[in-house]
Amino acid sequence: MDKLVIEGGKKLKGEIRVSGSKNSTLPILAATLLTDEKCVIRNVPKLRDTLTMIKLLRSLGKSVDYNNNIAVISGPANSSTAEYKLVSTMRGSFCVMGPLLGKFKTAKVSLPGGCVIGIRPVDLHIKGFKALGAKIEVAAGYVIATARQLKGNLIYLGGIFGPSVLATGNVMMAAVLAHGETIIESAACEPEVEELTEFLIKMGAHIEGKGTSRLVIRGVKRLHGAEYDIGPDRIEAGTFVLMAAATGSTLTLKNVKYAQLLVLMDRLEHAGVKFKKGKDSLTIIGPKKLKPVSVTTYPYPGFPTDLQAQFMALMAITQGVSVITDKVFPDRFIHIAELNRMGANIRRDSGVAIVEGVKYLYGAPVMASDLRASAALVLAGLAAKGKTEIHRIYHLERGYENIDEKLKKVGAVIYREKE
Ligand code: UD1
Repeated sequence: MDKLVIEGGKKLKGEIRVSGSKNSTLPILAATLLTDEKCVIRNVPKLRDTLTMIKLLRSLGKSVDYNNNIAVISGPANSSTAEYKLVSTMRGSFCVMGPLLGKFKTAKVSLPGGCVIGIRPVDLHIKGFKALGAKIEVAAGYVIATARQLKGNLIYLGGIFGPSVLATGNVMMAAVLAHGETIIESAACEPEVEELTEFLIKMGAHIEGKGTSRLVIRGVKRLHGAEYDIGPDRIEAGTFVLMAAATGSTLTLKNVKYAQLLVLMDRLEHAGVKFKKGKDSLTIIGPKKLKPVSVTTYPYPGFPTDLQAQFMALMAITQGVSVITDKVFPDRFIHIAELNRMGANIRRDSGVAIVEGVKYLYGAPVMASDLRASAALVLAGLAAKGKTEIHRIYHLERGYENIDEKLKKVGAVIYREKE
């Protein structure tokens, strides 16, 4: 396995093209299970997670060609069982349950289990499937759903931490082939759910309320093949924005939807970051000195939990005190310990992280613990004095396409070494 080495303190300069959204791609690939016809999905980022989803589709009998960021999926699925070995490596795999249940009226999908960012239950997914008339059994680590006929219903899908992105997608994918009308109240409004909705509509689904918290789905008898271009990854874009701010760099991002980054840019404006918007680009002008800003994560359009770790790394080198709270995954603070190993001064007090910004971080060997925590360590390494070695970078490869190559092209000193 490789480790990532970063020689910090270099300014970034130039342009980075943002890849297609991982979290849009995963449910959209799963949605192709709803038809036997050919689907063509473009701008699919080459990541561990998207490759896992492709493997899962193949294990269910679909034929998938994947080249040059284009996935061509065709043919019928011949199994409705998603095995533990694929689902356990990526929670996103659980979103094959809805389309399998919708198409075959039966699905057996391994329970994904928790991960370092929290317990991550699937009760909302199950609640939605039950409301559509499915019988659910949990046995030997699998969720088994069966139904003679799925029937539309009025479903409240909010949980104690707000709406759920994947539960909304999962239940919507089961409902598109159900009999009658389904209304999902408290649906997640994330752009990734909106993209899935667009794709389902292209496949022939009847859905109103795209991008809102109330989705009205009128079931149809069958769906057909469709083509779709995946939009930019707002979390990857946000990560590069924060890296530019942390290194005081001027960096242009291409393939960006500014409207999806509003809350991040608002917080950064308060911190003193300047930026220029283009049609589908964004130029960040990182200042010499930043001001501390507090953030609390919320479901979209609130501050994304998937940028919390990276924002914390930025505040770690911003002198003054900021408070960071995660209302989506309240225990998502595993990165604090590694940032502190680099000289940060962050402590956890009940549900919040209190960051006392220091002048510099210092390079150190650190361990990536999850996807976004890894990105926070890369950001810290770019801004730090000296050499940072990041171990277990397979986490990073789950969600950032060629991140080291992209950063190298804009002047970072970053390279892989064998462990
Ligand atoms: C998706 C994203 C992930 C992001 C998260 C929140 C994908 C592949 N992953 O994950 O990157 O961090 O949204 O924006 O799209 N919850 C329940 N019961 C459930 C489901 C969720 O209580 O049945 C809770 C979760 O524990 C969490 C909150 O709801 O506290 C939101 O989680 P959710 O939106 O479901 O996250 P995912 O869809 O798994």
